[in-house]
Amino acid sequence: MTQVLAIDQGTTSTRAIVFGADHRPVASAQQEFTQHFPASGWVEHDAMEIWNTVLATVRGALEKAGTSAEKIAAIGITNQRETVVLWDRETGEPVHKAIVWQDRRTASMTAKLREGGHEPMVQEKTGLLLDPYFSGSKLAWLLENVDGAREKAEAGKLAFGTIDSWLIWHLTGGQRHVTDATNAARTLLYNIREGQWDDDILRLFNIPRALLPKVLDCGAEFGTTDPALFGAGIAILGVAGDQQAATLGQACFQPGMLKSTYGTGCFALLNTGDTLVRSQNRMLGTIAYQFDGKPTYALEGSIFVAGAVVQWLRDGLRCIDAAADSQALAEAADPSQTIYLVPAFTGLGAPYWDPDCRGAIYGLTRNTGPQEIARAALESVGFQTRDLWEAMEADWQGAGGAENVLRVDGGMTASDWTMQFLADILGADVDRPEVLETTALGVAWVAGMQAGVYPGFDAFAEDWALERTFKPKMDADTREARYAGWKDAVSRTLSSRG
Ligand code: G3P
Repeated sequence: MTQVLAIDQGTTSTRAIVFGADHRPVASAQQEFTQHFPASGWVEHDAMEIWNTVLATVRGALEKAGTSAEKIAAIGITNQRETVVLWDRETGEPVHKAIVWQDRRTASMTAKLREGGHEPMVQEKTGLLLDPYFSGSKLAWLLENVDGAREKAEAGKLAFGTIDSWLIWHLTGGQRHVTDATNAARTLLYNIREGQWDDDILRLFNIPRALLPKVLDCGAEFGTTDPALFGAGIAILGVAGDQQAATLGQACFQPGMLKSTYGTGCFALLNTGDTLVRSQNRMLGTIAYQFDGKPTYALEGSIFVAGAVVQWLRDGLRCIDAAADSQALAEAADPSQTIYLVPAFTGLGAPYWDPDCRGAIYGLTRNTGPQEIARAALESVGFQTRDLWEAMEADWQGAGGAENVLRVDGGMTASDWTMQFLADILGADVDRPEVLETTALGVAWVAGMQAGVYPGFDAFAEDWALERTFKPKMDADTREARYAGWKDAVSRTLSSRG
């Protein structure tokens, strides 16, 4: 038993990957699922559909790898974070669609709490801010708006979980209601200093304790899968939210190490070791990972739209057929035009936290065409990362480590053009690893390490292999002028301007 199976349950698709004894991917299966947009700014998933994609992809990956459940040493689970599922403990059925992290329906609830002066207390305890992004207000919304939910919740008949808890519940045949510290850290209900659900905050959102899962380390015994599902029971030994799993997969184990993952959004995590930094610049404090009851903290910058801007070029503007075509279009852009695209499709995340503003394009002329818009779209990802980098450096000296480097992963990092622009606008090296499956790898490694088939921290870090470094080529004056143009575009876009 030297193989490990990772389940990577993301925002738009679910993947299962079998990793071999050398912790390299052997085979994988992937399934997309439905995105529901019931109102402007609302995003929902069908939790049962998600569960079915997990069943199908796990079975598919085992088959493709020519292996079976008996040969799998452990399962690791990584997932889209903050998304809320509320289900009936007796039937295992969700009482409502899952409310997705991108959903803004609770913007007025969190604004009211902010106006009420609660943010400093919440930030001190959770590291987070009062924004609809996190699970707390979404769970409160479900309790208020689903018929009978509050009474059932008070009576202990319902269970709340982020996607990891929901999947573990079903994988173990309803035996375990658990989560890990990194997922708990994103709920807005968990005190990351004390390592427990926080009574003051539960009161603030009026959430009964009976709903909450037990919180475990990232490497722990999360239960064994029901043998009826895959032919034999498999131990679930690793769990981490997807951005934290990518931090592990990128072996960012030393304070100062920084990774940025470009999926639907972009999430940069800076390892701050034992220190929980209270950000002065609207970054988030969070748990990077937790082993033996000891949290390692991180500063996080969360951007809601990165790869999603390329999807918009494809599906909204229809100026490309496939995401990979965006680079060629951008390269053909007229260099004399300076266009800024602020992709605030669902508001802006860090460091602006403005749920109400919406996207904008500046600098259009009669000569502007799809090429220039595509270039501005790809550049927006670099500019937003620079925003995070600036804020992190202001909060924590030594961001990027002594070498001043950013490790990148995720679909968009396949674009050399985008990665070069990123290095240019940061004025820092951008390192792209050989294995780009860092999210799944991170949690497979944790599960495999717990099972005793994968190496410990140091050996795993040594095995991290660089594919290419992008070095900044832009001169400093151009860099700063372009960045100033971006800041101006953002300030004109924010809903509170004027
Ligand atoms: O915080 C949201 C994040 O976990 C979603 O990640 O990769 O599914 O877009 P992804």
